[in-house]
Amino acid sequence: MKKILTVLFLLACFAKAHAQVSLSTGWKFKAGDSTAFSATNFDDSQWQAIDVNKPWERQRHDYYNGFGWYRLHVTIPASLKNSSYLKDSLRIDLQNVDDNDELYLNGKLIAKGGSDIKVSNYGPRHYMLATNNPAILWDKENVLAIRIFDTGGDGGLYGDKFSISMNDIMDYVSINTDADFVYGAKNAVGKSIKLISKGNNYNYKGKLDFKVTDPETGKVLYEKTNKATFTGSKPFTYTFSAAAIERKSYQLSYVFTDSLSGTKISKVESTPYILTPAPSAKPKINGPEVYGARPGNPFLYLIPATGQKPLTYKAVSLPKGLSLDVATGIIKGSVSKKGDYPVTFTVKNAVGSGTKQFTICIGDKIGLTPALGWNSWNAFGLSVDDGRVRTAARTMIEKLASYGWNYVNIDDGWEIDKRLPSGEITANQKFPDMKGTVDYVHSLGLKMGIYSSPGPTTCGGYLGSWQHEDQDAKTYGYWGIDYLKYDWCSYSEVSPKDPTLTDLKKPYQVIRASLDKVNRDIMLSFCQYGWGKVWEWGAETGGNSWRTTGDIQDTWRSMSEIGFNQDEAAKFAQPGHFNDPDMLVVGKVGWGPSLHNTHLSADEQYTHISLWSLQSVPLLIGCDMGALDKFTLNLLTNSEVLAIDQDALGKAARQVVKGNTYQIWVKEMKDGSKAIGLFNLSDKYQTITLPGTTAGTYKTIRNVWEQKDLTKGAGDFKASVAPHGVMLVRVK
Ligand code: GAL
Repeated sequence: MKKILTVLFLLACFAKAHAQVSLSTGWKFKAGDSTAFSATNFDDSQWQAIDVNKPWERQRHDYYNGFGWYRLHVTIPASLKNSSYLKDSLRIDLQNVDDNDELYLNGKLIAKGGSDIKVSNYGPRHYMLATNNPAILWDKENVLAIRIFDTGGDGGLYGDKFSISMNDIMDYVSINTDADFVYGAKNAVGKSIKLISKGNNYNYKGKLDFKVTDPETGKVLYEKTNKATFTGSKPFTYTFSAAAIERKSYQLSYVFTDSLSGTKISKVESTPYILTPAPSAKPKINGPEVYGARPGNPFLYLIPATGQKPLTYKAVSLPKGLSLDVATGIIKGSVSKKGDYPVTFTVKNAVGSGTKQFTICIGDKIGLTPALGWNSWNAFGLSVDDGRVRTAARTMIEKLASYGWNYVNIDDGWEIDKRLPSGEITANQKFPDMKGTVDYVHSLGLKMGIYSSPGPTTCGGYLGSWQHEDQDAKTYGYWGIDYLKYDWCSYSEVSPKDPTLTDLKKPYQVIRASLDKVNRDIMLSFCQYGWGKVWEWGAETGGNSWRTTGDIQDTWRSMSEIGFNQDEAAKFAQPGHFNDPDMLVVGKVGWGPSLHNTHLSADEQYTHISLWSLQSVPLLIGCDMGALDKFTLNLLTNSEVLAIDQDALGKAARQVVKGNTYQIWVKEMKDGSKAIGLFNLSDKYQTITLPGTTAGTYKTIRNVWEQKDLTKGAGDFKASVAPHGVMLVRVK
């Protein structure tokens, strides 16, 4: 295939590289607290060796909240200082701290995350220390001790980065690539990037090297060097547009070199590319084939359909008690009699019609297929508010609900500080009218979710439901809540120290019973990070889904470690009860007020959505819905990919090939076909073979993302797969 890439216009641009001591090994850890732990000569030789890339929960401290200490013996070379252009400050980066910290160097407290260590202050730290500070022992062994307090959930020091470096001229510079890509004809993409400096008065003057590489061949397709100057008040902008003939990611690299200091900063990103074809103008009904509701409870289902508007909806053989709004596709009412009701949906418009056979199952089971929706956490963290939630609902109805997306879930941060005198919970000032918000969401045909903890407080330090379970369930019922995420967090404070299986189940049984007293179908999502192999008992304990892991981050390391380690839990997935490897990290994420584009590449995002769909898990979009870019929207609106997740058989894919650099996951579908993901875990393109014996006898292999048939007949199937990417096929 021909590969052409032309850069149409360029204006300006950015970059950073400097010496640092990167240390993720050699750390020692102890749970507990003592002032003696900060001392230089304290003997930590018997302490546990720990990896600072993972929370302590993943390293033998399963249920632990409270204090923990990390210690590291490290030589800080004077050459670090000498080779730096600026010589005034040493910089220590921790990513992330969960929840708060104090940093000691050779016995002296040199920095802390907040005035009260017991107040949650999750996030990365960038600490600066004057180079003439006597606490630093240059060219000698230093002892770094970090005291951490975890309020609940995952705890400790973890993430991608721990480093000691010199604060240098480029530490004030960032290459801002946050602007959305602009799409042109023939898969062309372009954008403006910016070289920005903040916090100093330096006049940056140098060059920006821009390069486009084809990762498949390694060939440099375009190269250009531009002069670049910028200051704190005047950033440098560089704009390009590149036409890529092939549908794949190209690598873009930006390197700024400052001529006076000789220092550099660089950034690499890959171009997004669209795979999902645009929907047809003709009506098509998406979403699952089955929907479960309990007898006598309020029923709400929006028929998800794409096609040119206006659409009109029809439902034949709706059970007694339900009625359809023919203009919106919203079915409401309540069915008193148990039973499986086959229904035929038809949707019409000016260009044609679409039909679907559907079964409404009135019985004890709800959530027959995994939830599809949005959750506020990965985008906004504790800064969620009513406006953001309403924006999510509005965007969902405008752009996503026609593909089956329907839950709008508020995570932590909505709760008031103190219960009402009656003991009732209510929302804080960020949600002035919770019932009004829920009514609004329902009026669109969508569902509303909320969050709490069985402990006295949530992981974010807000009020939990401890000893108020019935009361809270009643409040949720009054508001009209359809989904509850119930997060263990501070429940460790009230449960036995080393909880048995019975102790682990207890808070979930209690809340399930409370929810069952309410006249609503409320989905229950367990969040206790996979403790006690929850997948083995989540269903019998009343969970519609259960988290199998700690919190996800928007990095390849986090997403792939979680996603490719779900095989043990896979066999427990069944209609009404699903594994939950945590929410999606696509689009603009941030866990707080400031957001950034996900750090996953386009191919990593295709892997993320494919793997999660194959595993039949809840898909909860974790981005700012008010800022959905074209790529993210395309990624989330592939009806054939979503149909894999929503398959009525409810089976999760199994890992059938686990190679060093690739994996194959196979999911059995209700119609007898198989959905198969060929995943490339390496950094290079590779050809992956799906053996004929794994595929079974088949007539066609369909490329699911592109929605087109690839080959007929049996035998081995080979696909060239991008680094960290996937070929997702349906074998029929
Ligand atoms: C964590 C949970 C996250 C989020 C957060 C809220 O424990 O895993 O998904 O809900 O608490 O504080």
